[in-house]
Amino acid sequence: MNRFKVYVTRRIPQEGIDLLKRVADVEVNPDDRPLSRAELLDKVQGVDGVIGLLTDKIDGEFFDAAAGIKGYANYAVGFDNIDVPEATKRGIPVSNTPGVLTDATAECAWSLIFSVARRIVETDKVMRSGKWTGWGPLQFIGGDIKGKTLGIVGAGRIGTEVALMSRGFNMKVIYTSSSDRRNGVLESELHAKLVSFDTLLKDSDFISIHTPLTPKTRHMFDASAFSHMKRTSYIINTARGPIIKETDLVVALESGEIAGAGIDVYENEPLMAPGLAELDNAVILPHIGSATISSRTDMATLAARNLIAMLKSEKPETCLNAELF
Ligand code: DGY
Repeated sequence: MNRFKVYVTRRIPQEGIDLLKRVADVEVNPDDRPLSRAELLDKVQGVDGVIGLLTDKIDGEFFDAAAGIKGYANYAVGFDNIDVPEATKRGIPVSNTPGVLTDATAECAWSLIFSVARRIVETDKVMRSGKWTGWGPLQFIGGDIKGKTLGIVGAGRIGTEVALMSRGFNMKVIYTSSSDRRNGVLESELHAKLVSFDTLLKDSDFISIHTPLTPKTRHMFDASAFSHMKRTSYIINTARGPIIKETDLVVALESGEIAGAGIDVYENEPLMAPGLAELDNAVILPHIGSATISSRTDMATLAARNLIAMLKSEKPETCLNAELF
């Protein structure tokens, strides 16, 4: 049997590569950095399949370069880097990695909730600086969590899990959903309520973003949105950076229009809007939502299984254009 030729645009956990090697000759970008556009377009020529990352733009130009490709597997659940209609038009299946990073990303959102509300990073810095003068009744007072209102923007897999994890804190949960479809689990388990975006802004003490990046959600959180939030509220983003207009976030944090932000994703990664890094009321992480051993390993094996299916002209487990099958 002829072996397939596969390219992987960045090193991923070996378990995924080992699976691919059963059916394909696999070349992996040896450097732990994203490929330049020119390198990507060069490397995918003549291959049967590609595993790529959220930093790789998968569009018409990519498919022209990778002429003859049997499938593309994204090593991410988010797929705003893929022009799915273009892939479908060309009859090329594409896949992502939902499910396997739900818990890790939800836990990351909760890490940000705790860290920003209780000023964990800011006060850790104070300790390390040697400037702490001893306990004081008015020092480093943060926000309460128990009993507060948690607003979930996008109650899909991850948003639902973040909400369910609030059970220990007896929070009131409200949510928005892009399809305006009620979330049965949230309503039965938490008595959560589907609300309008305006109500969510107005009523939440913590807003956690879990919606995909689309033209509709780009800059959903801008100066106007921040002006409708409580001054004591916090915003958490583990989804995609451009959902928040980052320069407006800096202004809202500087002016005290909102109390704080826990941010894992940025508009122009790896850059940040000027001023964000200087703010003590922002906890800033380097896009680590899915960065746990099991998540990253399972992402690799799911992406590999998806690609192997596509190489064999079979429907991948988590296909983004299932209509092709
Ligand atoms: C994703 O999967 O979309 C995350 O951003 C990276 O794991």
